[in-house]
Amino acid sequence: MTKNIFPKNFLWGGATAANQFEGAYNVDGKGLSVQDVTPQGGIPAQEGDLNPLITEEPTKDNLKLEGIDFYHRYKEDIALFAEMGFKVFRLSIAWSRIFPNGDETEPNEAGLQFYDDVFDELAKYGIEPLVTLSHYETPLHLARQYNGWASRDLIGFYERYARTVFTRYKDKVKYWLTFNEVNSVLHAPFMSGGIATPVEELSKQDLYQAAHHELVASALATKVGHEINPDFKIGCMVLAMPAYPMTSNPLDQLAVRDFENQNYLFSDIHARGKYPNYIKRYFEENNIEIQFAPEDEEILKNTVDFISFSYYMSVAQAHDPENYNSGRGNIMGGINNPYLEASEWGWQIDPVGLRLVLNHFYDRYQLPLFIVENGLGAKDVLVDGPNGPTVEDDYRIDYLQKHLVQVGEALKDGVELLGYTTWGPIDLVSASTAQLSKRYGFIYVDRNDDGSGSLARYKKKSFNWYKEVIATNGASLFD
Ligand code: BG6
Repeated sequence: MTKNIFPKNFLWGGATAANQFEGAYNVDGKGLSVQDVTPQGGIPAQEGDLNPLITEEPTKDNLKLEGIDFYHRYKEDIALFAEMGFKVFRLSIAWSRIFPNGDETEPNEAGLQFYDDVFDELAKYGIEPLVTLSHYETPLHLARQYNGWASRDLIGFYERYARTVFTRYKDKVKYWLTFNEVNSVLHAPFMSGGIATPVEELSKQDLYQAAHHELVASALATKVGHEINPDFKIGCMVLAMPAYPMTSNPLDQLAVRDFENQNYLFSDIHARGKYPNYIKRYFEENNIEIQFAPEDEEILKNTVDFISFSYYMSVAQAHDPENYNSGRGNIMGGINNPYLEASEWGWQIDPVGLRLVLNHFYDRYQLPLFIVENGLGAKDVLVDGPNGPTVEDDYRIDYLQKHLVQVGEALKDGVELLGYTTWGPIDLVSASTAQLSKRYGFIYVDRNDDGSGSLARYKKKSFNWYKEVIATNGASLFD
């Protein structure tokens, strides 16, 4: 019973983002993205402002400019994914490869050709692409000229971009995600939304209005995509972070609700096609008045085919947070939970939280789910092995094993799940800190935080572990 718990066509694989691994930041006509001018990563340091970290021009210390050079090594890397048995590979299209400034009327053919080549290579091995349209890589010109998603103009530019790639790849790509971690625009407005205004000058009104623009753009892309190919499966992608009440004080449970509703707002609108009632009260009490264009209400009714999400950690919440130790994790944070251990970067590890998240989403929407990010960022040590350099990453295997066992529990609970892609199956540059030493991969990449390294690829111990998980469709997790 336990052994056959994963559905027959379950999509096992890994997930990446163009700006974190392609490199080739200015090759074949690519324009700059917001990532090319944030050498230290995209998360504002604690309460501080991100802007001091933004440079006028790309600087040599920005590891993302070269990434791990997937742009030139995609054949070798895809062969390794195929060796692990991947059924799906999540990648993003770098918007600024297709529209270098974001507001042109004609796309850049060389950029389009690159993704044709990548999709063809994946097809050789029967690997299904899962494509994110916008993964923290808004064209820089749109940030500078329009203030990113603070401007309604971006809806039109995004629609043109989406239409272009949907049309071009309509026979090569079936699964699409509109915005990576769409709820993160409230917390990391420059990285997530290309909003150049300093964080401390942004009001809640500004942030929720920008979020509204993305939500309308997402629904519009969903509509356009289904018109171009009715077989497309288009999903939203949210950052999932469940919260526990710190005590059984009812006020702590209310704090949990407030925290979680901020995130559910995004999946609710994508799945139900309208703003939920609970947010109206929040908007009123915070003097937020979303400006709707006449067509917005109708556009939002274009709901998604599935809900996808990233899951790394959970937090605790309380009505009196000042009485506890808090920390930041994946973009957001909360109170440290004394029952949980944390990663080297302070992200609290909680496999059971994944089962809970899956159940929450499924109970709420009865739509298929897709876990499109999960994994452990850790420092690895390269050692000599019988077949060459390797990493004995038992800690990574342990993390993934425990999370996948909970996925199995959720499947037994009745959740419908399309697939699971681990974050960074090959080491890549971290989004929050722009380090390479924060590694997630099954494949080690010889590149260091100071930019040194040969870029050679080596299989870690987890490579064969994941290969076995996929080959047995999850049964080996329960041996
Ligand atoms: C998610 C992002 O927030 O977490 C990824 O979608 C990111 O882009 C991943 O890389 C892990 O975060 P980090 O900061 O460790 O790279």
